[in-house]
Amino acid sequence: MFPEPSHDEIARYNFLANLNRHLATYLSPGNRVVYEARVRPAFRAVAGRDFRDRHEVRRAMLDDPFFQEWSALRRNAMEMRQQAGRSMVLRQIDALNARAQALNDNAGTLRLDPSLELPSYLAKVDHHCMPGSYHTELVPDDVSAAANYDSGLFVTTGGALGPMSDGGGRAVADFVRTTFPEFSPRRILDLGCGLGHNAVPLAQAFPDAVVVAVDTAAPMLRYGHARAKALGVENIVFVQANAERLDPAEFPDASFDWVQTTMFWHETSGTAMRRIFEEIHRLLAPGGLTLHVEQPQYDERMPLVEQMLRDWDAYYNNEPFWSAMHGIDVRGLMEDAGFRPDRMFDGYVRAKVDDEARNPASPTGATEDHGRAAAWYAFGAWKN
Ligand SMILES: C[S@@+](CC[C@H](N)C(=O)[O-])C[C@H]1O[C@@H](n2cnc3c(N)ncnc32)[C@H](O)[C@@H]1O
Repeated sequence: MFPEPSHDEIARYNFLANLNRHLATYLSPGNRVVYEARVRPAFRAVAGRDFRDRHEVRRAMLDDPFFQEWSALRRNAMEMRQQAGRSMVLRQIDALNARAQALNDNAGTLRLDPSLELPSYLAKVDHHCMPGSYHTELVPDDVSAAANYDSGLFVTTGGALGPMSDGGGRAVADFVRTTFPEFSPRRILDLGCGLGHNAVPLAQAFPDAVVVAVDTAAPMLRYGHARAKALGVENIVFVQANAERLDPAEFPDASFDWVQTTMFWHETSGTAMRRIFEEIHRLLAPGGLTLHVEQPQYDERMPLVEQMLRDWDAYYNNEPFWSAMHGIDVRGLMEDAGFRPDRMFDGYVRAKVDDEARNPASPTGATEDHGRAAAWYAFGAWKN
């Protein structure tokens, strides 16, 4: 399903992927240097105290020329990436849509609901500068938003998720298999599945299970279904639905052994999170597992300057819930939904890619912006 790039489009993507890696590896650490060397001392001199929270840090950093330059370059890299992906996809939109249609024809494993109403936190936002976000259809049966997302993820992550952009899902499958060897799920639910980058590895790792992959965006589901078929993965059902309210006729109580989300919560809302955790609790069978992979939550152990840098997406990358989401007490939310605190856990899941040469760590050994390993925060709970 992948769009066919021309020579120049490959060159443009490679340039942008490397620009992003350069910004993350060489320039981003400079923010901490200017913070310690001039922004923090200047604030202390005037205020007579240190920063109280990440918001104060951000307001002070806004006047710093180094931060301004890094931030502007990062924003520009994202805008250029969207433009590059979109122009590549739109010139072949008819071929991509036809290819998806041929793979999706008569499939009972793709269930779309054209009457689905999008929640406003999705309808009103062009997430990460993606024109029309995940859901917009330019022509009937469109997959172009997903084709743009699929190809452009390589640029945004600098290739760190591996050739299939599935390093997260493969890491999760590995984590669950090795950490909970007795656990053998038959029905797995992936909420906010997107085009299935991280649902496919679960289906591959648990071939006797059925994965039900839910998203609100029809272009992502059409493309994801066709992509899974093209990859020979038959045990995924793609369903268009709002994870806040899943129809009990199609999604009965206690009907799943595992409910997964990957990089999902930050694109919802506070109210939606509460509802979705309640749905997860309802849908899990006793003894079932829920597992969530996200960027790390902010807590008092994380320096304020790091919290502020991680907040960048909320202000400059059209991720309006990002900042609030990373400050939310997710354990409290899970407890309110019915999960027991003594059955909750958290930790880190490391990206899993076949070939380290395709996932070249930066020369300093850091593969993401903040000097930590390419690992995601994972939290979850067992039901009862
Ligand atoms: C950042 S993408 C992550 C996609 C996927 N989990 C992955 O790891 O590649 C977030 C996805 O969540 C979907 N989404 C957000 N809110 C949703 C909701 N309430 N119900 C279903 N899907 C939702 C969006 O449409 C989008 O495709």
